[in-house]
Amino acid sequence: QHRALVVVAAGSGQRLGQGMPKALVDLGGRPLLAHALEAMSPQAAPGLELELLVLVLPGEPEAREKLAALGADHARRTGVEVVVCEGGSSRPVSVARGMDAVTDHARRHGWDAERLTVLVHDAARPLTPGDVAHRVARQVEAGSEAVVPALPVTDTIKRVLPVEETESRAAGVELQAEQVRETVPRAELRAVQTPQGFTLAFLQRAFAHLGDIADAEAEALTDEAMIAEALGVDVVVVPGDARALKITTPADLLAAEALVAEASG
Ligand code: C5P
Repeated sequence: QHRALVVVAAGSGQRLGQGMPKALVDLGGRPLLAHALEAMSPQAAPGLELELLVLVLPGEPEAREKLAALGADHARRTGVEVVVCEGGSSRPVSVARGMDAVTDHARRHGWDAERLTVLVHDAARPLTPGDVAHRVARQVEAGSEAVVPALPVTDTIKRVLPVEETESRAAGVELQAEQVRETVPRAELRAVQTPQGFTLAFLQRAFAHLGDIADAEAEALTDEAMIAEALGVDVVVVPGDARALKITTPADLLAAEALVAEASG
């Protein structure tokens, strides 16, 4: 059994508004990617025992060089083999490129795709504890083809419909953009995190299937587990961790800074 981690870090980080790719944004004195790598290192996550780390990076040369240097530094310090590749225009494309890099490596080393666990992780979740990755990997190795870490949802979630402008005017109420259709029972909901885990064999099948569907549909896939669902493959949920929060907005960055400050005592 072998384990590889693919970290997708090719996003633009536009919503964070710092004018640089998100993986380079500073969090307590270090770029997001440095935190994400550190958390998955043999020191921080003994037992995880990754044999390969694939970094999927932006094409822009300056950002790519800085992020690749973080990868090289990680390889030096941990002895884990680090491979770098270029991402694409959407997350699924970036993940597919990372998967291709894992496939190449597996072929060269004679690793069986059925016995290779691939963990797909967002650089945008830099504080995810290694424990979460370890839990996901163990579940894949216990026989699940697709595994996601998740937490119960604390907000009340409602499904909404757009409201026609004329309709709300006619009703004499303030212009509303949306109207509640229903409340989704919260006990059934989970907020899904990363790393998500798959056998390489499953990922290869999943992306072969994606090749058959339209680009627009592929763009709507926000994680690989959605492909498993579309293929009728059971997706197993294991416990996630509050520290695995995804950094999308400046408020998320503040929350992550508080976690870093707390951890460093
Ligand atoms: O955009 P979003 O925050 O959902 O991205 C989630 C993760 O996917 C991030 O780590 C981001 O760097 C990565 N990504 C990517 N290639 C893209 C878009 C997003 O690697 N084209």
